Amino acid sequence: MRISDPQIVAGLSKLAVELQPGISLADQTSLGIGGTTDLLRIKKHESIPDLLKLLDSNHIPHRFLGGGSNLLVGDGELPWVMLQLVRPEPDVVLEGNLAHVDGAADLGRTVTFCGKNDLGGMEGLIGVPGTVGGALRMNAGAYGMQIGSYVRQVKLYRAADRKIEILRGHQISFEYRHTSFAPDDMMLSVTLELPSKPFKEILQGIRICNEKRRTSQPLGQKSAGCIFKNPAGASAGRMIDELGLKGHAVGDARVSDRHANFFVNAGKASAKDMLALIADVRGRVQKAFGVELENEVVVWNA
Ligand code: EPU
Repeated sequence: MRISDPQIVAGLSKLAVELQPGISLADQTSLGIGGTTDLLRIKKHESIPDLLKLLDSNHIPHRFLGGGSNLLVGDGELPWVMLQLVRPEPDVVLEGNLAHVDGAADLGRTVTFCGKNDLGGMEGLIGVPGTVGGALRMNAGAYGMQIGSYVRQVKLYRAADRKIEILRGHQISFEYRHTSFAPDDMMLSVTLELPSKPFKEILQGIRICNEKRRTSQPLGQKSAGCIFKNPAGASAGRMIDELGLKGHAVGDARVSDRHANFFVNAGKASAKDMLALIADVRGRVQKAFGVELENEVVVWNA
């Protein structure tokens, strides 16, 4: 979708929103898949309610883009514009055991920065690509921890109320890869309360998690992490592996040889290829195990 009306363009500039016309989502996502649309980069949180008023009154649909690391976007010209926060400097401010983190902050860098200041707990998330806002909205987790456990407060744009609100941790429910945020809420910033830990100890935890990830996951290949959620008490990766599906492909969309719940873009995979592979694998698992796998990856298909 393209914004060409000069009045809207002027309105965006008044709101300190940068318009990047015709960007490719393949360049913005870790899967390297996705069509084209305009990207609106937001420099001031406070401008969001007016920005959405402007878009709504001109019938311009939108989606919020975080780091694009858990996202499968459709092919071709996309029927919505993308909104993204510009990362401020600094993006993490510490106050005792509290870390005030912008939604656009890089997750890995945040874990490291807090660690260097003797604040731990999030070591498991090292190596998970994406933004803190993205991790928060889906309650990212690994190696026995999840980000939701450390959340004391969240500032968000509440789509239903059309305004910026602050929620306390206890007002939000964090479950396995699921939160009580609405799909169109936008995570603006979060206050995490992290346990004190000497950096040396944190570094050790980071090294262990990095090593585990390096040996079990296809790092360095284009993927969106795990494609399916684990069903209660089972591992989607193990089930897919047991069916001998490592290397199984539709076009350039391929089940990783290293971890069967990672599907990689081995070349020029389209969203159509990847969706066909997902449907095929889901069908085979259903047939063999009687389990309907649920997507972990977020799919934006027109
Ligand atoms: N396994 C296989 N074959 C495979 C993959 C896994 O046999 O191809 C076996 C492993 O040997 C292990 C079991 O399945 O016994 C579980 O595998 P793993 O420890 O790799 O964990 P997972 O359940 O597949 C989950 C998360 C990952 C997270 C890891 C580490 C989900 C869907 N996945 O994977 O998160 O990094 O644990 O904590 O919850 C993600 O969210 O995108 C993600 C990758």
